[in-house]
Amino acid sequence: MSDKKEAGKLFPPTEELKKMSLVGGPEGYKKMYEESIRDPPAFWEKMSDNLDWFSKDWDSVFNWDKESGHFTWFKGGKLNVSYNCLDRHVLNGKKNQAAIIWEGDDPNETRVLTYGELLTEVEKFANVLKSKGVQKGDRVSVYLPMIPELAITLLACTRIGAIHSVVFSAFSAEALFNRIDDCASKLLVTTDGGYRGGKKVDIKGNANEALEKCPTVKDVIVVRRTGADVYMEEGRDTWWHDEMEKAPKKCEPEKMDAEDPLFILYTSGSTGKPKGVLHTTGGYLLQTQLSFQYVFNYRPGEVYWCTADVGWITGHSYIVYGPLSAGATTLMFEGVPNYPGLDRFWDVAEKWKVDIFYTAPTAVRMMRKTGEQWPKMHDLSSIRLLGSVGEPIDPEAWLWYHDVIGGGRCPIVDTWWQTETGSIMIAPLPGVTTLKPGCATNPMFGIEPLVCLEDRTVCKPGEDGRLFIKKPWPSQARTIWGDHQRYMDTYWNVIPGHYFTGDGGRMDADGDIWILGRVDDVISVAGHRIGAAEVEAAFLTHPAVAEAAVVPVPDEIKGEAIYTFVTLKDGYSESEDLRKALINQVRKEVGPIATPKTVQFTTGLPKTRSGKIMRRILRKIAGGGMHEDLGDVSTLAEPEVVDVLIKGRIL
Ligand code: WTA
Repeated sequence: MSDKKEAGKLFPPTEELKKMSLVGGPEGYKKMYEESIRDPPAFWEKMSDNLDWFSKDWDSVFNWDKESGHFTWFKGGKLNVSYNCLDRHVLNGKKNQAAIIWEGDDPNETRVLTYGELLTEVEKFANVLKSKGVQKGDRVSVYLPMIPELAITLLACTRIGAIHSVVFSAFSAEALFNRIDDCASKLLVTTDGGYRGGKKVDIKGNANEALEKCPTVKDVIVVRRTGADVYMEEGRDTWWHDEMEKAPKKCEPEKMDAEDPLFILYTSGSTGKPKGVLHTTGGYLLQTQLSFQYVFNYRPGEVYWCTADVGWITGHSYIVYGPLSAGATTLMFEGVPNYPGLDRFWDVAEKWKVDIFYTAPTAVRMMRKTGEQWPKMHDLSSIRLLGSVGEPIDPEAWLWYHDVIGGGRCPIVDTWWQTETGSIMIAPLPGVTTLKPGCATNPMFGIEPLVCLEDRTVCKPGEDGRLFIKKPWPSQARTIWGDHQRYMDTYWNVIPGHYFTGDGGRMDADGDIWILGRVDDVISVAGHRIGAAEVEAAFLTHPAVAEAAVVPVPDEIKGEAIYTFVTLKDGYSESEDLRKALINQVRKEVGPIATPKTVQFTTGLPKTRSGKIMRRILRKIAGGGMHEDLGDVSTLAEPEVVDVLIKGRIL
């Protein structure tokens, strides 16, 4: 890591890019940034003009009770998210502009929804929700693949003030159950199935299994996608198309308070239970819209494509809310990068003349491995900007992305942020920032990063530490659903008054920020956050398992992969079949994204005398470390276990 900067080439903005910059190039950014830090409430009040409000009568722009960790932005102001994402654009002449371009898993299947059409669908579905008794503040769970009905559902929830909770459609029945149960949803929107790489995937089966244990869910609306023969429960399940046919076309937007909850999105943390991250209305929408405009330097008429899934925060903020609030054309892709051919991304980019392409480093690494011949089959000259999100992008992958996909002419915005931050926190701006491959560079407006050592001393330039952000910002999560104490302990009590990101970071001599990856027990597999504790808990549901310890190991494509050490209960012995059964257990409990790469059976784990598993040591062993690389092991209860583990290591 330490030689990254030295190894790095610099890419200063061209004069042409500076002229295009919406913030007025490097000087414009500097002026705006300083203003945003000098007086954040004044800055955000000025910025609030970018949204349409029913009333701007907030008591104060920002209020913060440090002790309790409660803060508000624009409280008392009234607005509606769907109105900002749809109605105002229809009223401003964008009725016939494409809002969503949808590209199916099958390249012959596409749909374009104009702003006018999307608004009608949203109003109708909002009426469907109302007809089922869904009211302001009620939770609606959403278990849908990447089809337009997913965006329609989210916007319809915001229209009536229901709180949506999207569960990634490849999560298991158990994961869905936990996420419905935690927030006591009243209604579930799902589908008969989905398509992935030409194959049908079952979704309703999982939903049915989860719903057996979810008494709060009274209604289930099912989108017909694959036509699969699925079980529909009488009195509970109805088809989307039947409901929509009956639904009235007009639905007035609910006047929501800026601080009313907008959505819950579950994410992994360092304990087994996923956290229901809660975002609110005004601050979230304002900051996602602005960051979308500035980071991608979006200009009217451009086609923007983010390849993420709406099941993750990236899809919420930068497929749905940011782009639509900004009146952009957002491309939604149902498929996978390697179907029907390894050139699928480039086929889509050429077909729709994509201007802005935003993806994850894991996808870039995979494309790099499969070779240049695939992108070379297509005309990618429409692309003018590339983006990266979800994990650190290594300089080699960055340079490949820049040269092969960007033809050497497109800037790359490496955007660092999190489910909890709601919007992009650190990223270069096109026409402003000198790019450094692998570096997230500049803070966004109103964001003041701080890199500290564990003892809270501020790091010197070039010194590795932990990344914090001073003070709350508008799109910051307000709490963890049902567990404010966990919210405080995880984020605000590490250094009181500062937000702890869970990431390591470094500020270089130019003041640019490098992200060094997670410092907690969160593993990032292909950019997806997976809690080590969650996977361990899944192992423990198998009767053979006595103990399980899960650590990340470097993976060439996925960034990190899951390595597990397992001890068995008496009466069980290790075998290939058992290994397979355990892996299946995890897939079932958490979902296929958490599939362990390696399961090593062992007779013991390194523990402190108080019984705490020393993950630091396991991480090194899994990564190929020898005894002498492990540091001091004398504090272990049984130091001999280290040699057993090294001997049994699976590389
Ligand atoms: C990581 C995704 C390096 C980081 C938006 C963070 C990154 C976690 C970057 C959040 C980046 C995200 N460079 N690391 N550009 N972007 N991360 O909540 O470890 O799914 O804490 O949000 O992803 O993951 P989450």
